[in-house]
Amino acid sequence: MGGRSIRVPGDKSITHRALMLAALASGRCSLGGALAAADTRATAGALRTLGVTVGRLAAACAVRVAGGGLHPFRATSRVVDCRNSGTTARLLLGLLAGHPFETALTGDRSLRRRPMARITEPLRLMGAAIDAAEGEVLPARIRGGPLAPLLWRSPVAAAQVKTALFFAGLVGGVPVTVTEPFHSRDHSERMLRLLGVRVDSDGTTTTVHPVEQLPAFEGDVPGDYSSAAYFLAAGVLARHGEVVLEGVGVNPTRTGFGRVLERMGAPIETQGRWMSLGEPAATLVARPAHLRAAVVGPEEVPSMVDEVPLLACLAARAEGTSVFRGVGELRYKESDRLALVAMNLATLGVVAHAEGDTLRVTGTDRPLRGRVVTAGDHRLAMAFAVLGTAPGGEFELDDVRCVSVSYPGFFSDLQMALTGG
Ligand code: S3P
Repeated sequence: MGGRSIRVPGDKSITHRALMLAALASGRCSLGGALAAADTRATAGALRTLGVTVGRLAAACAVRVAGGGLHPFRATSRVVDCRNSGTTARLLLGLLAGHPFETALTGDRSLRRRPMARITEPLRLMGAAIDAAEGEVLPARIRGGPLAPLLWRSPVAAAQVKTALFFAGLVGGVPVTVTEPFHSRDHSERMLRLLGVRVDSDGTTTTVHPVEQLPAFEGDVPGDYSSAAYFLAAGVLARHGEVVLEGVGVNPTRTGFGRVLERMGAPIETQGRWMSLGEPAATLVARPAHLRAAVVGPEEVPSMVDEVPLLACLAARAEGTSVFRGVGELRYKESDRLALVAMNLATLGVVAHAEGDTLRVTGTDRPLRGRVVTAGDHRLAMAFAVLGTAPGGEFELDDVRCVSVSYPGFFSDLQMALTGG
């Protein structure tokens, strides 16, 4: 590892939320450091289709959004294409629930297999009319209107669910209370508080109260911890050197990966700490370590949900058998990540099994050889690309273009981290 410092792109979850809340604000908003990738472009494009003026989303320049107040959307006969982005689809359904016209939503093949019932069921209870394809998936049509307050106990700890419902409450002018089984990421709550919205939290129950309007805002999106995690892992797997990541969001509802790494014997150093858009950010440093297996429980999964494939790859190089319990949600991501992680690790010669909602991986120091199937899933491509940098990794990935979903410059940054330039 060359010891070069890397600045990962802006946080994907925060960028989606900030773009949507900017659309709802009363006035012009400006966001520095927003993620310019396929997923966040899907949100920007969807907002434009619905009549919101959103400037160019490009790396290294701020994106401007002309907020149109709490009901910024205009009816369109075009189908809103959310492409590969579950966050775009689910959060937009929440916003559209409070707009009194019909809108059609779709997505790519991967998104069209992902469950929407977790959103459509409570939104219907609030008063939205939603007609989804068989199995309650996209494509769907939603007709919004006057909404009723909601008290909802979500069966899954999913930030997309609670955010969609909070957004519906904001547009509908009604309070929304969501209880989740475990804490999921709280970016929406933080951003809403920053904008003066009353948000009450009691354990895993959160209530968002209605407001007359949202003020225009500007701010900088911190670097994405989920993107930083790949370089932290590369730093840990390397033989020598260190990797330094600057300006990374370290919201504790996102940093479960680092807590597990610490248990595996690879503590991540945190330097400095500042706040940006209501979120803590810091510089992170990773160094090589001898890894031991870890056991992960269901209550900590939401804080590392997108990092489980990467942790499974690290477990393949750890001493002992790692167990990940309560990871069934991974089956409903951009691919069935649970099945594909186990299958790919097995192809490479690692003992790995996914059964129900549990994943087990037994580490080995044998050379890893074979061909990894990414199934067009960005997180699988990046996790296995990092495993491939570990000593003894000599395998290829079938398709890596999908990294553009969340991190278009991933491979050049990885090269820079490995070679120091
Ligand atoms: C996200 C929440 C997570 C995560 C996804 C982004 C969000 O999904 O996997 O990549 O922006 O709210 P859940 O809805 O399962 O928490």
